[in-house]
Amino acid sequence: MHKLSIWASGSGSNAENIYNYFKNSKEISIDHILCNKKDAGVFERAKKLGVDAKYFSSAEFRNSTSVLDFLKEREINYIILAGFLLKVSEEIIFHYPARIINIHPALLPDYGGKGMYGLHVHEAVIVAGEKHSGITIHLVDEEYDHGTTIFQSICEIEKGETPKSLAEKVHQLEYKHYPEVIQNYILSFNS
Ligand code: GAR
Repeated sequence: MHKLSIWASGSGSNAENIYNYFKNSKEISIDHILCNKKDAGVFERAKKLGVDAKYFSSAEFRNSTSVLDFLKEREINYIILAGFLLKVSEEIIFHYPARIINIHPALLPDYGGKGMYGLHVHEAVIVAGEKHSGITIHLVDEEYDHGTTIFQSICEIEKGETPKSLAEKVHQLEYKHYPEVIQNYILSFNS
């Protein structure tokens, strides 16, 4: 069984979707959710789903000893970022080479980097007059939104599109593709 740790900072709708996708899987299990925001919506979702959720402060994520100890104790094989807004520390990347996956709500390499998260991304895409946006699923390396891309999917930007309406479209793409891309990556990594 491949054991996953999901990391989120906000509402956690992707975390919930991923959890539901794998709940009956015989190959992949979601062990828990980690979050760096005490009042994040993801805690309420986790409670409802009956999955463990644990808070670590942003400083603990940066320093990473206690986070790594926890991952080791739980025998975690992969880390899945689902709306996790901190940079992953070099030490954690070192311990999980090619085993940390992120989803970004735009078509990287454009509209990525520090400060590019959530509605800020969609706002920038619309202001730039883009005709398309989408999602990028990629491996995590030491730079923000930079590691090898493993999947992209595109949506159209229509006349009168707002950051909120675009976020909704992008979320639908995320729900549709992220769990399956995670599954395909992990199973091919281990074949
Ligand atoms: C998602 O759209 C995700 O792609 C984005 O945050 C949202 C989280 O939504 N991630 C980033 O912007 C990372 N740079 P959720 O909490 O409802 O899953």
